[in-house]
Amino acid sequence: MRRLSAITILFTFAIISINIDSGSLEEASSYSNHFRGSHQGYHYPQKYKKFESRSNEIVAEDAFHKLFNEIKTQQKLKTATSYNNRDIFINRNKTRDEESQLEFSYNENDRYGPPRWKDINAQCGGRNQSPIAIDTGFVAVRENAQELIIDGVDLVPQSMKVENNGHSLKLSFKYQNDQKINISGGPLKNPFILDNIHFHWGSNTSGSEHVINDQRYAAELHMVTYNSIFETFEMASQDPMGLAVLGILYEYDKLYTGKDNPWVKFITKVIKAHSTYTETNWVFPIRDIIKDVDFRGLLSYRGSLTTPNCSENVLWMLSTRPIVIKQNELVELRKLRNDKGRRIIHNYRPLQDTNGRTVTAYKYK
Ligand SMILES: *[C@@H]1O[C@H](CO)[C@@H](O)[C@H](O)[C@H]1NC(C)=O
Ligand SMILES: *[C@@H]1O[C@H](CO)[C@@H](O)[C@H](O)[C@H]1NC(C)=O
Ligand SMILES: *[C@@H]1O[C@H](CO)[C@@H](O)[C@H](O)[C@H]1NC(C)=O
Ligand SMILES: *[C@@H]1O[C@H](CO)[C@@H](O)[C@H](O)[C@H]1NC(C)=O
Repeated sequence: MRRLSAITILFTFAIISINIDSGSLEEASSYSNHFRGSHQGYHYPQKYKKFESRSNEIVAEDAFHKLFNEIKTQQKLKTATSYNNRDIFINRNKTRDEESQLEFSYNENDRYGPPRWKDINAQCGGRNQSPIAIDTGFVAVRENAQELIIDGVDLVPQSMKVENNGHSLKLSFKYQNDQKINISGGPLKNPFILDNIHFHWGSNTSGSEHVINDQRYAAELHMVTYNSIFETFEMASQDPMGLAVLGILYEYDKLYTGKDNPWVKFITKVIKAHSTYTETNWVFPIRDIIKDVDFRGLLSYRGSLTTPNCSENVLWMLSTRPIVIKQNELVELRKLRNDKGRRIIHNYRPLQDTNGRTVTAYKYK
């Protein structure tokens, strides 16, 4: 059985306090801080700052609506002439941008280690980068949010493309009749279509990219999606509102003796960097990967891709309910090799400055 994690409990306290105390953010924070003992950042200026940033967020959302409608109109015009359905199995030449991305690494001392990613693409030195550390005692709370839904979570794919891209294990799915998995609800104003899922892990049991309440989880699954107002992932990637990533945390549980995650079966087939293969027999629905994860208390903020080009057009959503990973599964992930032929021991990016960005928790009706 899944253990209740510390963050779940903390978060629940924050939510409960809102119900009791008429929904103010301050109450949530002070209750949660009280629960955790003193918090050095909790004083009047901090409160004020929080209100300020919350109102900024609302302004930003109005702007989003406006932009969304504009894009939709433009998009409709484009669609008529240049409909070009993306096929994940097409092998095309790499662009210059993609080529230079191959050089980055996760080792501080390498020529293109994390501190030097900004030399590959200046965006990596931007002010809205990911991942970040989140303190659930200091988040805005959105009441009466729509539940986050993954539409097609039980669809069995026709085939799956399994890839070692030199930095991670990446899976993409192809469904019958060109169906697509999409997610909606939570902070999303319209459906976002799944492009791929991939993983981040560490040399030990601390390998997630995002850190919540000072805890770095064992690993992190990223479901990369793009705004369905665009025809393709590539087109959405160019747009300031184009992408959303749903992050699911893995918690190491040494007592867990359940079945292996289904992706474990594939890893040995893509040990070498840039190896790919297509599985058509042993295919499974997304549900088999994300299990019974639920999205109550989803955290969301605006950030970036966590690998070069670090494009700052990602709406982040993080589940606060981790799912289980086992030691042997972490060991399997670390068997993958990078471009230099070395094992990918860890592939999480160092924490980035929030620069005052607001994180919002979405509470369902
Ligand atoms: C890829 O590059 C090669 C060599 O530069 C070229 O001959 C080929 O036409 C290119 N293919 C595509 C699909 O652009
Ligand atoms: C979302 O996915 C479901 C199930 O595959 C599908 O019925 C629906 O049309 C999709 N919506 C969009 C906008 O792609
Ligand atoms: C994992 O390794 C990192 C870096 O080497 C270290 O900072 C961290 O404390 C370790 N975590 C655990 C749980 O051993
Ligand atoms: C960033 O990279 C993605 C592919 O990973 C690409 O589609 C996008 O156009 C790039 N964005 C910018 C602003 O260069």
